[in-house]
Amino acid sequence: MRLKIACIGGGPAGLYVAISMKLRDPRHEVHVFERNAEGVTFGWGVVFSDQTVENLMANDPISGQIIADEFAHWDDIDVHIQGACVRSSGHGFIGIGRKQLLEILANRARELDVEIHYETEFDPDLAAWPGWDLVIAADGINSRFREAHAEHFGVDVQERANRFVWLGTPKTFDAFTFAFEKTEAGWIWAHAYRFAEDCSTFIVECSEDTWHRLGFDRIEQAEAIALCEKIFAKYLDGQPLLSNAAHLQGPAVWLKFRRIICERWHYDKLILLGDAAHTAHFSIGSGTKLALEDAIKLAEVLNRPGLGRAEALAEYQAERNLEVLKLQNSARNSTEWFETVERYLHFEPWQFAYSLLTRSQRISHENLRLRDRGWLEETERTFWQEATGKAKTAWPMFAPFKLREMEVQNRIVVSPMAMYSAVDGVPNDFHLVHLGARAQGGAGLVFTEMTCVSPEGRISPGCTGMWNDEQLSAWCRVTDFVHSNSKAKICLQLGHSGGKGSTRVGWEGDNMPLVEGNWPVFAASDAPWSPENQQPRPMTRSDMDDVRSQFVAAVRMGLKAGFDMVEMHAAHGYLLSSFITPLQNKRTDEYGGNLENRLRFPLEVFAAMREAWPADRPMSVRISANDWAGEEGVTPDEAVLIAEAFARAGADLIDVSAGQTWADAQPVYGRLFQTPFSDKIRNQAKLATMAVGNITDPDQVNAILTAGRADLVALARPHLVDPMWTLRAAAMANYRDQWVPPPYLGGMAQMARLFEREAELRAAELKA
Ligand SMILES: Cc1cc2nc3c(=O)[nH]c(=O)nc-3n(C[C@H](O)[C@H](O)[C@H](O)COP(=O)(O)OP(=O)(O)OC[C@H]3O[C@@H](n4cnc5c(N)ncnc54)[C@H](O)[C@@H]3O)c2cc1C
Ligand SMILES: Cc1cc2nc3c(=O)[nH]c(=O)nc-3n(C[C@H](O)[C@H](O)[C@H](O)COP(=O)(O)O)c2cc1C
Repeated sequence: MRLKIACIGGGPAGLYVAISMKLRDPRHEVHVFERNAEGVTFGWGVVFSDQTVENLMANDPISGQIIADEFAHWDDIDVHIQGACVRSSGHGFIGIGRKQLLEILANRARELDVEIHYETEFDPDLAAWPGWDLVIAADGINSRFREAHAEHFGVDVQERANRFVWLGTPKTFDAFTFAFEKTEAGWIWAHAYRFAEDCSTFIVECSEDTWHRLGFDRIEQAEAIALCEKIFAKYLDGQPLLSNAAHLQGPAVWLKFRRIICERWHYDKLILLGDAAHTAHFSIGSGTKLALEDAIKLAEVLNRPGLGRAEALAEYQAERNLEVLKLQNSARNSTEWFETVERYLHFEPWQFAYSLLTRSQRISHENLRLRDRGWLEETERTFWQEATGKAKTAWPMFAPFKLREMEVQNRIVVSPMAMYSAVDGVPNDFHLVHLGARAQGGAGLVFTEMTCVSPEGRISPGCTGMWNDEQLSAWCRVTDFVHSNSKAKICLQLGHSGGKGSTRVGWEGDNMPLVEGNWPVFAASDAPWSPENQQPRPMTRSDMDDVRSQFVAAVRMGLKAGFDMVEMHAAHGYLLSSFITPLQNKRTDEYGGNLENRLRFPLEVFAAMREAWPADRPMSVRISANDWAGEEGVTPDEAVLIAEAFARAGADLIDVSAGQTWADAQPVYGRLFQTPFSDKIRNQAKLATMAVGNITDPDQVNAILTAGRADLVALARPHLVDPMWTLRAAAMANYRDQWVPPPYLGGMAQMARLFEREAELRAAELKA
């Protein structure tokens, strides 16, 4: 069907949708309205990936080829930090000037009979567009059309913290350059890349505080540029920095990135496209790509025979939104990295660069190896050198780690997991086989499940305990087996269920009260976990004394039982966690209210345990670093203070979990979803941490460790189905120094050969 279409905005999205509509049906009448004059635009260069170029070629080979001919290509990334430059290669970028791109697209659009009206701005009121079939709002990040109809689009705007300015320079960089400079006012950095023979983009970014302290909020654009030229003089070789935003006065040239999400992308005959519909932070360089790919998809669905308008638009949004969400997720990680960069500035340059390169979590350890094997191997060697005093080219996950006098053979940990298989708290053959198999499976450290310090401190009747001799000798059997049949160390996790106790075994209803035989429970306050659960009795001081003594007694038994390490469980809403989280702790005495008060009892217990545990053996604490309740609950910022308080009380490792502290929490799940909290605690408080939560493969583990986001990595569910997770990883890496139970050596050799063959086949396929 022939359509009369108005495209608002002559940016990449508006021009490319006009082209794409005309290519599919020349009968469409397509007009582009751009408020600026031709050739007047903000910004300098934009970067693309090879995939985007392929998409452009498939959609319109003519403009695709002209664009491809204009590209500047480069492979290297330079990270300048603390006077050093870390160069890695194989990154394969393509850049083009925004002005050139728009010129090519405008020429191509005219060739296809699109009418472009420059210096024309229209009213966003749809009543002003009576004769038009479609109005496509491609009017950019500040879209007036989106704002005028915001209630129909479900617009969510988030303004990010840092300030940036988009400048250009005739200095041509031969690598994508990140330059971090320390000034008396704070850190400031540039993202620079060449996009033409004689021109580079030069984006300057800093925190809001540094921006104020440098006086950028008070000076005119020319002065600001002169100051940037001075700060970055050593990178510019005497070349100037240039602005093409001369119309902006004073500080207005500095922007704060606005992340836009829209629940719906169309309303009536109005359709959102490109930045008007969504934005992706400039540090992952994907805004133009998204705009162009939106345009292709929209034109495709609108011209598909037999597809009604409503179905077409639903498909447009569903498919593009998925792509956008993926990118926005990476973009958020990348944005946050730059917003919290202070955390990483104490890293050695190699680690700082690694952390920068993997910031979005889109680029993994093995991906870096594919890009630049030499650089990655050097990075691995340095990791080993710093970790062990000996350089070695091997996966970082196999590097040993020392806590007090306990050394674990590698960084993999079997996370604590309740098996609900004990009778009267006594571990049995199930626990022996379960923990024994995982120890033989190669992990450096194996945690017991939450082992309860008293009968009423159990979560369920199936929980293990440590309050009597029968339990002690059963635990001795487990630790003896682990020590004599593996190289693993074993950590006893001690806990008390509090208000989440007296519930069923996990697979019969998580956190649901027992069908019969419930025992009374206590907690910090009397709020029940859920309407189905018992109302706990608020603990008295005498209860606290009892519980503290029970923890200490359990620690002493743990020592007799031969455990290498003890962890206090203060996470997930159980007793000690019920004191820490304000969502459960409603006390008005010295154990409730501010954080210091809420921590008082858990710290008292921890200190007493520490006293009972030998000075040469380590202790850790598991915390919930985020209640997933915004400011109402424990926030990641508060988690840093919590971690610091436990470290002062003698914790050697912070086991960083999150959530499960109140029933209505809204966790944001995803790959590695809790690792950012470990990163924050480790690098802000400078403490050893263990990351956990949806970490499933060795590549992720290596990236977490090499980027300094954790010191140990715990895996729970992956170990449920694969006790040999670590041995499998060693076979995959053909790592010969991993200890293997001698009778299993044949299996390891075979698995390593199979992995090797598989890799060779993949390489041959890639070559072909
Ligand atoms: C510092 C910085 C660096 C970036 N780097 C990259 C990069 O490397 N790679 C990348 O892909 N992307 C990058 N981007 C993002 C990229 O610029 C945008 O994502 C892209 O331009 C979006 O295209 P668009 O057509 O949707 O919007 P725009 O390019 O913003 O175009 C919108 C157009 O609409 C016009 N307009 C607005 N309102 C009206 C109106 N009412 N009537 C008529 N016309 C109107 C505007 O003048 C403008 O020309 C960067 C962005 C910034 C800020
Ligand atoms: C079956 C099961 C039982 C668990 N029991 C405990 C426990 O006893 N103590 C504890 O601190 N965490 C417990 N957890 C949480 C895990 O240790 C881990 O933090 C969580 O599963 C996220 O890691 P994953 O994504 O690798 O599974 C348990 C998890 C599972 C799956």
